[in-house]
Amino acid sequence: MEVASARILIVDDEPIVRESLGAYLRDQGHLCDLAPGGRAALELAARNSYQLVILDIRMPGMDGVTVLAELKCRQPDLPVLMITAYAEVTTAVAAMKAGAYDYVVKPFDPEEIGLIVRNVVAHHHLIRENLQLRQKLAERDRFEELVGRSPRMRAVFDLIAGVADTNVTVLITGESGTGKELAARAIHRRSPRANGPFVAVSCGGLPETLVESELFGHERGAFTGAVARHRGRFEQAGGGTLFLDEVAEISPKTQVDLLRVLESRRFTRLGGTEEIAADVRVVAATNRDLGAEVKTGRFREDLYYRLKVVVIPLPPLRERTEDIPLLATHFLEHFAREMGRAVRAVSPDAMALLLAHDWPGNVRELANALQRAVAVGRSELVEPIDLPVEAAAEAVPGTGRTLQELEQRHVAAVLEESDWNVTHAATTLGIDRVTLYKKMKRYGLRRPERQPP
Ligand SMILES: Nc1ncnc2c1ncn2[C@@H]1O[C@H](COP(=O)(O)OP(=O)(O)OP(=O)(O)O)[C@@H](O)[C@H]1O
Ligand SMILES: [Mg+2]
Repeated sequence: MEVASARILIVDDEPIVRESLGAYLRDQGHLCDLAPGGRAALELAARNSYQLVILDIRMPGMDGVTVLAELKCRQPDLPVLMITAYAEVTTAVAAMKAGAYDYVVKPFDPEEIGLIVRNVVAHHHLIRENLQLRQKLAERDRFEELVGRSPRMRAVFDLIAGVADTNVTVLITGESGTGKELAARAIHRRSPRANGPFVAVSCGGLPETLVESELFGHERGAFTGAVARHRGRFEQAGGGTLFLDEVAEISPKTQVDLLRVLESRRFTRLGGTEEIAADVRVVAATNRDLGAEVKTGRFREDLYYRLKVVVIPLPPLRERTEDIPLLATHFLEHFAREMGRAVRAVSPDAMALLLAHDWPGNVRELANALQRAVAVGRSELVEPIDLPVEAAAEAVPGTGRTLQELEQRHVAAVLEESDWNVTHAATTLGIDRVTLYKKMKRYGLRRPERQPP
Protein backbone atom coordinates (compact mmCIF):
# COMPACT_ATOMS: atom_id res chain seq x y z
CA MET A 1 0.00 0.00 0.00
CA GLU A 2 1.18 3.45 -0.77
CA VAL A 3 2.14 5.37 2.33
CA ALA A 4 0.51 8.74 2.66
CA SER A 5 2.20 11.39 4.73
CA ALA A 6 0.90 12.17 8.17
CA ARG A 7 1.10 15.03 10.58
CA ILE A 8 2.79 13.77 13.72
CA LEU A 9 3.44 15.32 17.14
CA ILE A 10 6.56 14.07 18.93
CA VAL A 11 6.75 14.71 22.67
CA ASP A 12 9.95 13.97 24.60
CA ASP A 13 11.93 15.95 27.13
CA GLU A 14 15.23 14.67 25.73
CA PRO A 15 16.13 16.88 22.74
CA ILE A 16 18.23 14.17 21.12
CA VAL A 17 15.35 11.67 21.11
CA ARG A 18 12.71 14.01 19.70
CA GLU A 19 15.03 15.58 17.18
CA SER A 20 16.46 12.35 15.79
CA LEU A 21 13.02 10.78 15.61
CA GLY A 22 11.66 13.93 13.95
CA ALA A 23 14.47 13.87 11.40
CA TYR A 24 13.84 10.21 10.62
CA LEU A 25 10.11 10.62 10.16
CA ARG A 26 10.50 13.81 8.09
CA ASP A 27 12.80 11.79 5.94
CA GLN A 28 9.95 9.36 5.43
CA GLY A 29 7.80 12.20 4.16
CA HIS A 30 5.86 13.06 7.30
CA LEU A 31 5.23 16.45 8.85
CA CYS A 32 6.52 16.55 12.41
CA ASP A 33 6.02 18.99 15.26
CA LEU A 34 8.21 18.63 18.34
CA ALA A 35 7.30 19.39 21.95
CA PRO A 36 9.63 19.23 24.96
CA GLY A 37 6.88 18.49 27.48
CA GLY A 38 3.25 17.79 28.26
CA ARG A 39 2.01 21.37 28.42
CA ALA A 40 3.58 22.36 25.11
CA ALA A 41 2.17 19.16 23.59
CA LEU A 42 -1.38 19.88 24.71
CA GLU A 43 -1.15 23.41 23.37
CA LEU A 44 0.04 22.18 19.99
CA ALA A 45 -2.63 19.47 19.90
CA ALA A 46 -5.33 22.04 20.60
CA ARG A 47 -4.24 24.13 17.64
CA ASN A 48 -3.42 21.44 15.06
CA SER A 49 -4.91 18.21 13.90
CA TYR A 50 -2.52 15.29 14.20
CA GLN A 51 -2.89 11.76 12.91
CA LEU A 52 -0.48 10.43 15.50
CA VAL A 53 1.16 11.53 18.72
CA ILE A 54 4.40 9.92 19.88
CA LEU A 55 4.63 10.46 23.61
CA ASP A 56 7.38 9.80 26.14
CA ILE A 57 6.09 8.46 29.44
CA ARG A 58 8.62 9.84 31.84
CA MET A 59 8.93 13.61 31.60
CA PRO A 60 9.42 16.25 34.28
CA GLY A 61 6.29 18.27 34.99
CA MET A 62 3.36 16.60 33.35
CA ASP A 63 4.06 12.91 32.69
CA GLY A 64 3.08 11.06 29.53
CA VAL A 65 0.19 9.10 31.02
CA THR A 66 -1.47 12.33 32.18
CA VAL A 67 -0.96 13.87 28.74
CA LEU A 68 -2.43 10.74 27.18
CA ALA A 69 -5.54 10.96 29.35
CA GLU A 70 -6.04 14.62 28.43
CA LEU A 71 -5.52 13.94 24.70
CA LYS A 72 -7.93 11.00 24.76
CA CYS A 73 -10.48 13.13 26.54
CA ARG A 74 -10.38 15.70 23.77
CA GLN A 75 -10.05 13.33 20.83
CA PRO A 76 -10.84 9.71 21.68
CA ASP A 77 -9.77 8.24 18.35
CA LEU A 78 -6.37 9.96 18.16
CA PRO A 79 -3.69 7.25 18.03
CA VAL A 80 -0.98 7.77 20.67
CA LEU A 81 2.26 5.80 20.64
CA MET A 82 4.00 5.67 24.01
CA ILE A 83 7.76 5.64 24.44
CA THR A 84 8.95 3.98 27.58
CA ALA A 85 12.12 2.97 29.33
CA TYR A 86 12.59 -0.74 29.83
CA ALA A 87 12.01 -0.46 33.57
CA GLU A 88 8.62 1.13 33.04
CA VAL A 89 6.94 -1.44 30.90
CA THR A 90 4.16 -1.93 33.44
CA THR A 91 3.34 1.77 33.13
CA ALA A 92 3.21 1.29 29.37
CA VAL A 93 0.75 -1.55 29.84
CA ALA A 94 -1.37 0.77 31.98
CA ALA A 95 -1.14 3.37 29.21
CA MET A 96 -2.39 0.79 26.70
CA LYS A 97 -5.37 0.20 28.93
CA ALA A 98 -5.93 3.97 29.00
CA GLY A 99 -6.19 3.95 25.23
CA ALA A 100 -2.64 4.20 23.88
CA TYR A 101 -2.26 2.69 20.41
CA ASP A 102 1.00 0.90 21.15
CA TYR A 103 4.30 1.38 22.93
CA VAL A 104 7.97 1.07 22.08
CA VAL A 105 10.77 0.47 24.54
CA LYS A 106 13.85 2.71 24.65
CA PRO A 107 16.33 2.48 23.07
CA PHE A 108 14.33 1.86 19.95
CA ASP A 109 15.12 1.41 16.33
CA PRO A 110 13.60 4.29 14.29
CA GLU A 111 12.61 1.67 11.72
CA GLU A 112 10.33 0.10 14.31
CA ILE A 113 8.57 3.43 14.80
CA GLY A 114 8.49 3.94 11.04
CA LEU A 115 6.58 0.68 10.68
CA ILE A 116 4.08 1.60 13.37
CA VAL A 117 3.57 5.00 11.76
CA ARG A 118 2.92 3.31 8.43
CA ASN A 119 0.33 1.06 10.04
CA VAL A 120 -1.38 3.94 11.80
CA VAL A 121 -1.54 6.00 8.64
CA ALA A 122 -2.80 3.06 6.58
CA HIS A 123 -5.37 2.29 9.25
CA HIS A 124 -6.51 5.89 9.37
CA HIS A 125 -6.77 5.98 5.63
CA LEU A 126 -8.75 2.75 5.66
CA ILE A 127 -11.24 3.96 8.24
CA ARG A 128 -11.74 7.11 6.19
CA GLU A 129 -12.18 5.12 3.00
CA ASN A 130 -14.72 2.86 4.70
CA LEU A 131 -16.59 5.86 5.96
CA GLN A 132 -16.72 7.24 2.45
CA LEU A 133 -17.93 3.89 1.13
CA ARG A 134 -20.66 3.93 3.73
CA GLN A 135 -21.74 7.45 2.91
CA LYS A 136 -21.85 6.57 -0.74
CA LEU A 137 -23.83 3.49 0.10
CA ALA A 138 -26.43 5.60 1.80
CA GLU A 139 -26.87 7.78 -1.25
CA ARG A 140 -26.48 5.57 -4.29
CA ASP A 141 -25.21 2.13 -5.16
CA ARG A 142 -28.29 0.46 -3.88
CA PHE A 143 -31.75 -0.23 -5.14
CA GLU A 144 -34.26 -1.05 -2.45
CA GLU A 145 -32.37 -3.71 -0.44
CA LEU A 146 -30.09 -4.62 -3.32
CA VAL A 147 -26.57 -3.28 -2.97
CA GLY A 148 -24.40 -2.98 -6.07
CA ARG A 149 -22.69 -0.55 -8.36
CA SER A 150 -21.35 -2.82 -11.10
CA PRO A 151 -22.69 -2.17 -14.59
CA ARG A 152 -24.37 -5.58 -14.47
CA MET A 153 -26.24 -4.77 -11.28
CA ARG A 154 -27.11 -1.33 -12.62
CA ALA A 155 -28.68 -3.10 -15.59
CA VAL A 156 -30.67 -5.26 -13.17
CA PHE A 157 -31.86 -2.16 -11.30
CA ASP A 158 -32.94 -0.56 -14.58
CA LEU A 159 -34.84 -3.70 -15.58
CA ILE A 160 -36.62 -3.85 -12.23
CA ALA A 161 -37.49 -0.17 -12.36
CA GLY A 162 -38.76 -0.64 -15.91
CA VAL A 163 -41.14 -3.54 -15.19
CA ALA A 164 -42.19 -2.69 -11.65
CA ASP A 165 -45.20 -0.58 -12.52
CA THR A 166 -46.59 -3.10 -15.00
CA ASN A 167 -48.43 -6.31 -14.19
CA VAL A 168 -46.22 -8.41 -16.41
CA THR A 169 -44.91 -11.80 -15.24
CA VAL A 170 -41.22 -11.77 -14.47
CA LEU A 171 -38.73 -14.62 -14.34
CA ILE A 172 -35.64 -14.05 -12.21
CA THR A 173 -32.74 -16.35 -12.95
CA GLY A 174 -29.39 -16.75 -11.26
CA GLU A 175 -27.25 -19.04 -9.16
CA SER A 176 -28.10 -19.70 -5.56
CA GLY A 177 -27.48 -16.73 -3.29
CA THR A 178 -27.39 -14.07 -6.01
CA GLY A 179 -30.34 -12.16 -4.56
CA LYS A 180 -33.30 -13.46 -6.54
CA GLU A 181 -35.70 -13.13 -3.64
CA LEU A 182 -34.46 -9.62 -2.87
CA ALA A 183 -35.00 -8.68 -6.50
CA ALA A 184 -38.55 -10.07 -6.35
CA ARG A 185 -39.25 -8.00 -3.26
CA ALA A 186 -37.80 -4.92 -4.95
CA ILE A 187 -40.19 -5.40 -7.86
CA HIS A 188 -43.08 -5.66 -5.43
CA ARG A 189 -42.06 -2.62 -3.44
CA ARG A 190 -41.74 -0.48 -6.55
CA SER A 191 -45.07 -1.61 -7.96
CA PRO A 192 -48.58 -0.20 -7.51
CA ARG A 193 -49.21 -3.38 -5.49
CA ALA A 194 -46.67 -2.37 -2.84
CA ASN A 195 -49.38 -1.94 -0.22
CA GLY A 196 -50.71 -5.42 -0.92
CA PRO A 197 -49.08 -8.63 0.36
CA PHE A 198 -45.86 -10.20 -0.92
CA VAL A 199 -46.33 -13.94 -0.68
CA ALA A 200 -43.49 -16.36 -1.36
CA VAL A 201 -43.96 -20.05 -2.16
CA SER A 202 -41.06 -22.41 -2.38
CA CYS A 203 -42.03 -24.92 -5.04
CA GLY A 204 -39.15 -27.31 -4.37
CA GLY A 205 -39.30 -30.19 -2.01
CA LEU A 206 -43.08 -30.37 -1.56
CA PRO A 207 -45.05 -33.38 -2.84
CA GLU A 208 -47.37 -32.64 -5.75
CA THR A 209 -50.67 -32.61 -3.83
CA LEU A 210 -49.24 -30.32 -1.20
CA VAL A 211 -47.94 -27.85 -3.76
CA GLU A 212 -51.36 -27.74 -5.42
CA SER A 213 -53.16 -27.11 -2.18
CA GLU A 214 -50.48 -24.66 -1.11
CA LEU A 215 -50.95 -22.67 -4.31
CA PHE A 216 -54.66 -22.91 -4.93
CA GLY A 217 -56.05 -23.87 -1.54
CA HIS A 218 -58.60 -26.59 -0.90
CA GLU A 219 -62.16 -27.08 0.25
CA ARG A 220 -63.00 -29.03 3.33
CA GLY A 221 -62.80 -32.76 2.60
CA ALA A 222 -60.92 -32.29 -0.69
CA PHE A 223 -58.53 -35.01 0.44
CA THR A 224 -57.81 -37.02 3.56
CA GLY A 225 -56.73 -34.58 6.21
CA ALA A 226 -58.40 -31.56 4.61
CA VAL A 227 -60.47 -30.88 7.70
CA ALA A 228 -61.14 -27.25 6.92
CA ARG A 229 -61.21 -24.94 3.98
CA HIS A 230 -57.81 -23.52 3.19
CA ARG A 231 -57.00 -20.40 1.26
CA GLY A 232 -54.07 -20.94 -1.07
CA ARG A 233 -51.21 -18.60 -1.83
CA PHE A 234 -52.92 -17.23 -4.92
CA GLU A 235 -55.73 -16.05 -2.67
CA GLN A 236 -53.45 -14.85 0.10
CA ALA A 237 -51.49 -12.78 -2.40
CA GLY A 238 -54.62 -11.07 -3.69
CA GLY A 239 -53.88 -7.45 -4.54
CA GLY A 240 -50.17 -8.14 -4.15
CA THR A 241 -47.33 -10.19 -5.58
CA LEU A 242 -46.93 -13.97 -5.64
CA PHE A 243 -43.32 -15.11 -5.67
CA LEU A 244 -42.91 -18.63 -7.06
CA ASP A 245 -39.46 -19.66 -5.92
CA GLU A 246 -37.69 -22.69 -7.43
CA VAL A 247 -40.32 -22.83 -10.15
CA ALA A 248 -38.35 -25.46 -12.11
CA GLU A 249 -39.20 -27.98 -9.39
CA ILE A 250 -42.94 -28.16 -9.95
CA SER A 251 -44.43 -31.37 -11.31
CA PRO A 252 -45.84 -31.72 -14.83
CA LYS A 253 -49.39 -31.79 -13.46
CA THR A 254 -48.92 -28.59 -11.47
CA GLN A 255 -47.25 -27.00 -14.48
CA VAL A 256 -50.48 -27.50 -16.41
CA ASP A 257 -52.57 -25.98 -13.63
CA LEU A 258 -50.24 -23.06 -13.21
CA LEU A 259 -50.29 -22.34 -16.92
CA ARG A 260 -54.07 -22.36 -16.86
CA VAL A 261 -54.15 -19.84 -14.02
CA LEU A 262 -51.64 -17.57 -15.68
CA GLU A 263 -53.67 -17.59 -18.88
CA SER A 264 -57.18 -17.32 -17.47
CA ARG A 265 -56.30 -15.36 -14.35
CA ARG A 266 -58.77 -17.58 -12.48
CA PHE A 267 -58.47 -20.71 -10.40
CA THR A 268 -60.49 -23.04 -8.19
CA ARG A 269 -59.59 -24.49 -4.82
CA LEU A 270 -58.87 -28.22 -4.72
CA GLY A 271 -62.16 -30.09 -4.41
CA GLY A 272 -64.09 -26.92 -5.18
CA THR A 273 -66.05 -25.55 -8.10
CA GLU A 274 -66.13 -21.83 -7.44
CA GLU A 275 -63.90 -19.86 -9.79
CA ILE A 276 -61.83 -17.27 -8.05
CA ALA A 277 -60.12 -14.33 -9.76
CA ALA A 278 -56.35 -14.35 -9.37
CA ASP A 279 -55.56 -10.73 -8.65
CA VAL A 280 -51.83 -11.30 -8.39
CA ARG A 281 -48.64 -10.29 -10.08
CA VAL A 282 -46.51 -13.38 -10.54
CA VAL A 283 -42.74 -13.27 -10.16
CA ALA A 284 -40.98 -16.61 -10.55
CA ALA A 285 -37.39 -17.56 -9.82
CA THR A 286 -35.09 -20.42 -10.64
CA ASN A 287 -31.42 -21.27 -10.34
CA ARG A 288 -31.77 -23.82 -13.13
CA ASP A 289 -31.42 -23.28 -16.83
CA LEU A 290 -35.13 -23.46 -17.68
CA GLY A 291 -34.41 -23.48 -21.41
CA ALA A 292 -32.40 -26.67 -20.94
CA GLU A 293 -35.16 -28.16 -18.77
CA VAL A 294 -37.55 -27.50 -21.66
CA LYS A 295 -35.26 -29.26 -24.14
CA THR A 296 -35.07 -32.37 -21.98
CA GLY A 297 -38.83 -32.30 -21.56
CA ARG A 298 -38.87 -31.69 -17.82
CA PHE A 299 -40.50 -28.29 -18.14
CA ARG A 300 -43.41 -27.33 -20.38
CA GLU A 301 -42.43 -25.05 -23.20
CA ASP A 302 -45.73 -23.11 -23.14
CA LEU A 303 -45.36 -22.39 -19.42
CA TYR A 304 -41.76 -21.38 -20.00
CA TYR A 305 -42.82 -18.75 -22.55
CA ARG A 306 -45.58 -17.58 -20.23
CA LEU A 307 -43.12 -17.03 -17.39
CA LYS A 308 -40.27 -15.51 -19.31
CA VAL A 309 -42.09 -12.50 -20.70
CA VAL A 310 -39.42 -10.52 -18.92
CA VAL A 311 -36.27 -12.26 -17.67
CA ILE A 312 -34.05 -10.64 -15.08
CA PRO A 313 -30.73 -12.48 -14.90
CA LEU A 314 -28.79 -11.97 -11.68
CA PRO A 315 -25.07 -12.25 -12.35
CA PRO A 316 -22.94 -14.42 -10.06
CA LEU A 317 -20.76 -12.47 -7.64
CA ARG A 318 -17.49 -13.59 -9.27
CA GLU A 319 -18.55 -11.73 -12.41
CA ARG A 320 -19.02 -8.46 -10.56
CA THR A 321 -16.13 -8.33 -8.14
CA GLU A 322 -16.34 -4.52 -8.08
CA ASP A 323 -19.40 -4.98 -5.87
CA ILE A 324 -17.48 -6.98 -3.25
CA PRO A 325 -16.04 -4.04 -1.21
CA LEU A 326 -19.42 -2.38 -1.17
CA LEU A 327 -21.24 -5.55 -0.14
CA ALA A 328 -18.59 -6.45 2.44
CA THR A 329 -18.87 -3.00 4.04
CA HIS A 330 -22.64 -3.26 3.95
CA PHE A 331 -22.65 -6.63 5.74
CA LEU A 332 -19.89 -5.60 8.14
CA GLU A 333 -21.93 -2.65 9.27
CA HIS A 334 -25.09 -4.71 9.46
CA PHE A 335 -23.63 -7.49 11.59
CA ALA A 336 -21.54 -5.14 13.75
CA ARG A 337 -24.69 -3.26 14.62
CA GLU A 338 -26.65 -6.46 15.18
CA MET A 339 -24.01 -7.96 17.48
CA GLY A 340 -23.09 -4.67 19.12
CA ARG A 341 -19.44 -4.90 18.01
CA ALA A 342 -17.15 -2.00 17.22
CA VAL A 343 -15.78 -3.53 14.03
CA ARG A 344 -15.16 -0.68 11.65
CA ALA A 345 -13.40 -1.86 8.53
CA VAL A 346 -12.07 -4.73 6.45
CA SER A 347 -8.25 -4.67 6.36
CA PRO A 348 -6.61 -4.43 2.92
CA ASP A 349 -5.22 -7.98 3.23
CA ALA A 350 -8.63 -9.35 4.13
CA MET A 351 -10.24 -7.40 1.29
CA ALA A 352 -7.70 -8.88 -1.12
CA LEU A 353 -8.80 -12.36 -0.01
CA LEU A 354 -12.46 -11.47 -0.47
CA LEU A 355 -11.72 -10.15 -3.95
CA ALA A 356 -9.79 -13.26 -4.94
CA HIS A 357 -12.32 -15.82 -3.74
CA ASP A 358 -14.72 -17.09 -6.39
CA TRP A 359 -17.85 -17.22 -4.18
CA PRO A 360 -19.73 -20.31 -5.35
CA GLY A 361 -22.40 -19.39 -2.78
CA ASN A 362 -22.49 -15.81 -4.10
CA VAL A 363 -23.77 -12.95 -1.92
CA ARG A 364 -25.19 -15.32 0.68
CA GLU A 365 -21.73 -16.83 1.19
CA LEU A 366 -20.16 -13.37 1.44
CA ALA A 367 -22.75 -12.33 4.02
CA ASN A 368 -22.03 -15.46 6.04
CA ALA A 369 -18.28 -14.85 5.86
CA LEU A 370 -18.69 -11.32 7.22
CA GLN A 371 -21.09 -12.47 9.90
CA ARG A 372 -18.55 -14.99 11.10
CA ALA A 373 -15.71 -12.46 10.93
CA VAL A 374 -17.63 -9.98 13.06
CA ALA A 375 -18.45 -12.72 15.54
CA VAL A 376 -14.93 -14.15 15.94
CA GLY A 377 -12.78 -11.06 15.26
CA ARG A 378 -11.08 -9.42 18.18
CA SER A 379 -10.10 -6.06 16.74
CA GLU A 380 -11.83 -3.24 14.97
CA LEU A 381 -10.47 -4.54 11.67
CA VAL A 382 -11.52 -7.71 9.92
CA GLU A 383 -8.25 -9.56 9.26
CA PRO A 384 -7.58 -12.55 6.98
CA ILE A 385 -7.48 -14.83 10.01
CA ASP A 386 -11.11 -13.94 10.76
CA LEU A 387 -12.26 -15.17 7.36
CA PRO A 388 -13.19 -18.76 6.59
CA VAL A 389 -10.04 -20.75 5.81
CA GLU A 390 -11.46 -21.90 2.48
CA ALA A 391 -11.47 -18.33 1.25
CA ALA A 392 -7.92 -17.77 2.44
CA ALA A 393 -6.64 -20.96 0.86
CA GLU A 394 -8.16 -20.55 -2.56
CA ALA A 395 -7.35 -16.90 -2.68
CA VAL A 396 -3.63 -17.31 -3.17
CA PRO A 397 -3.27 -18.88 -6.57
CA GLY A 398 -0.78 -21.70 -6.74
CA THR A 399 -0.36 -21.82 -2.99
CA GLY A 400 -1.70 -24.88 -1.32
CA ARG A 401 -3.56 -24.28 1.86
CA THR A 402 -1.18 -26.54 3.70
CA LEU A 403 1.84 -24.49 2.73
CA GLN A 404 0.30 -21.28 4.00
CA GLU A 405 -0.90 -22.94 7.14
CA LEU A 406 2.51 -24.44 7.62
CA GLU A 407 4.14 -21.03 7.34
CA GLN A 408 1.69 -19.50 9.76
CA ARG A 409 2.24 -22.23 12.30
CA HIS A 410 6.01 -22.13 11.89
CA VAL A 411 6.19 -18.35 12.30
CA ALA A 412 3.98 -18.56 15.38
CA ALA A 413 6.13 -21.33 16.86
CA VAL A 414 9.38 -19.44 16.30
CA LEU A 415 7.92 -16.28 17.82
CA GLU A 416 6.79 -18.26 20.83
CA GLU A 417 10.24 -19.85 21.14
CA SER A 418 11.96 -16.50 21.09
CA ASP A 419 9.47 -15.10 23.61
CA TRP A 420 8.00 -12.78 20.93
CA ASN A 421 11.30 -10.98 20.44
CA VAL A 422 10.85 -9.97 16.82
CA THR A 423 14.53 -9.34 16.10
CA HIS A 424 15.48 -12.72 17.48
CA ALA A 425 12.67 -14.55 15.68
CA ALA A 426 13.50 -12.84 12.37
CA THR A 427 17.12 -14.01 12.66
CA THR A 428 15.99 -17.57 13.36
CA LEU A 429 13.63 -17.47 10.37
CA GLY A 430 16.29 -15.92 8.14
CA ILE A 431 14.13 -12.96 7.16
CA ASP A 432 14.30 -9.28 8.04
CA ARG A 433 12.15 -7.73 10.70
CA VAL A 434 9.89 -5.83 8.35
CA THR A 435 9.07 -9.05 6.50
CA LEU A 436 8.34 -10.73 9.79
CA TYR A 437 6.10 -7.87 10.88
CA LYS A 438 4.23 -8.23 7.60
CA LYS A 439 3.75 -11.94 8.14
CA MET A 440 2.62 -11.35 11.71
CA LYS A 441 0.09 -8.86 10.43
CA ARG A 442 -1.05 -11.14 7.64
CA TYR A 443 -1.61 -14.07 9.98
CA GLY A 444 -2.88 -11.93 12.82
CA LEU A 445 -0.08 -13.11 15.13
CA ARG A 446 0.24 -11.07 18.26
CA ARG A 447 2.00 -11.50 21.56
CA PRO A 448 -0.56 -12.97 23.93
CA GLU A 449 -1.52 -10.41 26.55
CA ARG A 450 0.23 -10.92 29.83
CA GLN A 451 -0.94 -9.73 33.16
CA PRO A 452 1.43 -7.13 34.57
CA PRO A 453 3.35 -8.68 37.48
N1 LIG B 1 -27.24 -7.29 -4.00
C1 LIG B 1 -27.43 -7.62 -2.70
N2 LIG B 1 -27.31 -6.68 -1.76
C2 LIG B 1 -27.49 -7.00 -0.45
N3 LIG B 1 -27.78 -8.22 0.00
C3 LIG B 1 -27.90 -9.20 -0.91
C4 LIG B 1 -27.73 -8.96 -2.30
N4 LIG B 1 -27.91 -10.13 -2.96
C5 LIG B 1 -28.18 -11.04 -2.03
N5 LIG B 1 -28.18 -10.51 -0.80
C6 LIG B 1 -28.38 -11.25 0.48
O1 LIG B 1 -27.85 -12.56 0.27
C7 LIG B 1 -28.72 -13.55 0.78
C8 LIG B 1 -29.24 -14.42 -0.35
O2 LIG B 1 -30.12 -13.67 -1.18
P1 LIG B 1 -31.46 -14.29 -1.79
O3 LIG B 1 -32.15 -15.15 -0.78
O4 LIG B 1 -32.24 -13.21 -2.41
O5 LIG B 1 -30.80 -15.23 -2.89
P2 LIG B 1 -31.46 -16.24 -3.90
O6 LIG B 1 -30.93 -15.89 -5.25
O7 LIG B 1 -32.93 -16.22 -3.71
O8 LIG B 1 -30.83 -17.63 -3.44
P3 LIG B 1 -31.43 -19.12 -3.58
O9 LIG B 1 -31.42 -19.48 -5.04
O10 LIG B 1 -30.45 -19.95 -2.80
O11 LIG B 1 -32.80 -19.09 -2.98
C9 LIG B 1 -29.81 -12.81 1.50
O12 LIG B 1 -29.45 -12.68 2.86
C10 LIG B 1 -29.84 -11.45 0.83
O13 LIG B 1 -30.29 -10.47 1.72
MG1 LIG C 1 -34.14 -17.72 -2.89
